[in-house]
Amino acid sequence: MNMEFTFSRHDVSTVVGTASRVENISVSPDLLILDSEVKNNYKDKLPSCDHEVVLIGGEGSKTPDVLEKLWQKMSQVNLRRDSRVVVIGGGTVCDTGAFAASTWKRGVNLTLVPTTLLCMVDASLGGKTAVNIAGEKNQAGTVYPASEIIICPEFLETLSQKELNNGLAEALKTAVIGDRKIVEYLQKKDYLQAVTACLAVKGSIVAEDLEETGKRRLLNLGHTIGHCIEAISSFEIDHGAAVAMGIPVAAEMGGNHTFAGELREVAGELSIETAIPSSVTLSGILNHLKNDKKTTAAGRIWIIPHGWEDCRQVLLDSSTEKELLEKVWQ
Ligand SMILES: NC(=O)c1ccc[n+]([C@@H]2O[C@H](COP(=O)([O-])OP(=O)(O)OC[C@H]3O[C@@H](n4cnc5c(N)ncnc54)[C@H](O)[C@@H]3O)[C@@H](O)[C@H]2O)c1
Repeated sequence: MNMEFTFSRHDVSTVVGTASRVENISVSPDLLILDSEVKNNYKDKLPSCDHEVVLIGGEGSKTPDVLEKLWQKMSQVNLRRDSRVVVIGGGTVCDTGAFAASTWKRGVNLTLVPTTLLCMVDASLGGKTAVNIAGEKNQAGTVYPASEIIICPEFLETLSQKELNNGLAEALKTAVIGDRKIVEYLQKKDYLQAVTACLAVKGSIVAEDLEETGKRRLLNLGHTIGHCIEAISSFEIDHGAAVAMGIPVAAEMGGNHTFAGELREVAGELSIETAIPSSVTLSGILNHLKNDKKTTAAGRIWIIPHGWEDCRQVLLDSSTEKELLEKVWQ
């Protein structure tokens, strides 16, 4: 599989390639940034590099302190404008590593090798880099697509079921937005085909709208409710699980109850939980919606799925939004 996406505004391209096994990953890094779990699990099979930084995966790696540590290393090893940074890890290590690469000398060459399903199907492609500030997610960041992404499904063999489920939820979201066949690939556990199909959907959307002023918003399907559920549960419910709960809610807000039922059934077959815990109340949701970053004076754009590959952007003012949510929570 070889795919290439060119992004309109920056006129930069991302080439997506594959490696059948970890030892076949062919890269020549000047600086290698690695997730510690990946380093422990794959040791000598990983590409070698004289200069390496190992980060502990998780939100704790998305901080200004870690960013500073990466810049210091880049300075110490004399990383030049034409040098290449290779990041091997999940979405957190990739987000921070890519941020550092995008800002060092105003941007060096970047290869991302995603090692979680979520990062393979979503976080690695599309150029968003970020760190969290004062506990708030993704407050500082850049838009800097990697020139190369390498997908190696062998990494999924050591991923926990919980992390796999997070990726499955984002893959299901992508199936609803743009390619129903992704569900079949997931059911067959054909992860390479599922990842390829997800990247094709995301890549074609992002190539048109890197800055998220139009079509890219579709990728937020399930996220408005999902973010509220994560926050109400004090982040006990993972991001992927919360998004999976949010997708049928969005379908019901559009009056598409049959499709919402179908989505819950398909999710269940993939062992993705979509039932919303009773602790997540409507008043809790309405309260947390106030913090939604996408709110404007006119209201909020919701992504409403009407069927497979048929998602629409709908601007709802706060009273209509409340009315629709009340019907769902009845
Ligand atoms: N940039 C984007 O467009 C974008 C899109 C979606 C999500 N994100 C970000 O991605 C992050 C979540 O990424 P994630 O779900 O990959 O989580 P993660 O990076 O925290 O990884 C999850 C856990 O799995 C471990 N791990 C990674 N690869 C492994 C492997 N192959 N085997 C065993 N363990 C492994 C990590 O050490 C970590 O403990 C969030 O911070 C989110 O904001 C970014």
